[in-house]
Amino acid sequence: MKKINDTRIYGIFGFPLGHTLSPYFQEAAFQASGIPAQYLTFPLDEAHFKTAMKKLKPDFALSGFNVTVPYKETVLPYLDRLTPAAKAIGAVNTVIFEKGKWLGANTDGHGFLMSLKKDGHFNPRHKKALMLGAGGSAKAVAYSLAEAGVSQLTMVNRTLSKAQRLIRTLRKQFPRLDCRVMHFDHSDWRKEIAFCDLIVNTTSVGLRQTDKPLLRLRDIPPARGRKKLFYDLIYNPSETIFLRQARRKGHRGMNGLGMLFYQGVRSFELWTKKKAPERIMRDALIRAYRGVEK
Ligand code: ATR
Repeated sequence: MKKINDTRIYGIFGFPLGHTLSPYFQEAAFQASGIPAQYLTFPLDEAHFKTAMKKLKPDFALSGFNVTVPYKETVLPYLDRLTPAAKAIGAVNTVIFEKGKWLGANTDGHGFLMSLKKDGHFNPRHKKALMLGAGGSAKAVAYSLAEAGVSQLTMVNRTLSKAQRLIRTLRKQFPRLDCRVMHFDHSDWRKEIAFCDLIVNTTSVGLRQTDKPLLRLRDIPPARGRKKLFYDLIYNPSETIFLRQARRKGHRGMNGLGMLFYQGVRSFELWTKKKAPERIMRDALIRAYRGVEK
């Protein structure tokens, strides 16, 4: 593995990468673990991303890297091997350099699950879940929920065919999973909310304050002592309209900052084979987050 002045180089590829928080907590983790390393950002358009993948590989210039939107699938042909989870999900967010080969992993689903369990004290086992969206991040979330043993998974999407495809792939991996798909325009899914324990927004709706909410207040039954968990993968703004409405009806809400944190923790551990200094990473993440929070 090539090192510059003994410093290992890690980084993140994506486009745009504007306010990525990963460098802050990854560099804090390397420093606390006594690993001389830098974590760089590579905001590249698609053509440059592909060139970088081709050129970087034989050079062994990177010890490992993250891949984010929109390249989690684009990166696949450049990898030598995939972990079983990355293969099943069909997307990679972490690349590990191992014995001269690039190994692709997906830590998003793990990050989501850890955030649910550790921070939200919510175990999805035998619970009913409803997911809004069937895009890139939905794949990892659906896989992790199926693996964690949900009793039912409903996926709602604007483009029905995308949800159908995702669920078809999931069924191959989890043939006994009770899962269904619904179209956003079909109002039946709104009635489903009453029977679900977990409702996850994986769509990009809510990123802008002006976004029209997917859930109407009247779709959410009041908690009355039986709180549901509403989880929004969006973490900036910290409280989207989706979470605000859930809170107004007395339910619990979590944003995606925890998912970002735990996926990063796992990436660090895969790269270094060391236990991540979680407290230090979390402090660094929160400090950086305060600087960019809308
Ligand atoms: P990511 O990688 O962040 O998941 P993505 O793959 O582009 O991003 O997926 C975005 C998701 O948000 C999709 O489920 C998309 O629905 P479509 O599959 O129909 O495109 C959903 N989405 C985006 N804008 C939306 C809107 N205005 N209403 C409903 N769904 C929307």
